[in-house]
Amino acid sequence: MSAILVLNGPNLNLLGVREPGVYGAHTLADVEALCKAEGEARGVRVECRQSNHEGDLVDWLQEAGREVAAGRLRGVVLNAGAYTHTSIALRDAIKGASVPVIELHISNVHAREEFRHHSHISPVARGIIVGLGVQGYALAIAAFVVPGTGT
Ligand code: DQA
Repeated sequence: MSAILVLNGPNLNLLGVREPGVYGAHTLADVEALCKAEGEARGVRVECRQSNHEGDLVDWLQEAGREVAAGRLRGVVLNAGAYTHTSIALRDAIKGASVPVIELHISNVHAREEFRHHSHISPVARGIIVGLGVQGYALAIAAFVVPGTGT
């Protein structure tokens, strides 16, 4: 049974206390429990990690690429937080490691500040889920399991 990796980037450890009007009341622990429950329901193991450090995310994406190549991982659900809008290193890691990524944002970044409208990740992502709240994580996991989604 190949797994799915959920990566959360900077400041997502503050979910629940950070701008609840934008991100809602769910904590990161709630999100990770939701992801694992969705995986269990769909018969796939889900692993969750969070870091505030860009290099950790690069390392984990490279590791994910090796796991995908070995047939042990389907892909990564990635909420890169603000690195989405700034990090060429994350984009290069996704491309370089050939890892299938679903880019995810809890909020609708396109309805927010202009600087959130551009993503370095989108051009190398398999798909994008934006603005559906924390339930977007469950939908992203489903996308790696449901046939015909291109993942
Ligand atoms: C976010 C949106 C980003 O613009 C922001 O920097 C985040 C969270 C989201 O989940 O809506 O940290 O990725």
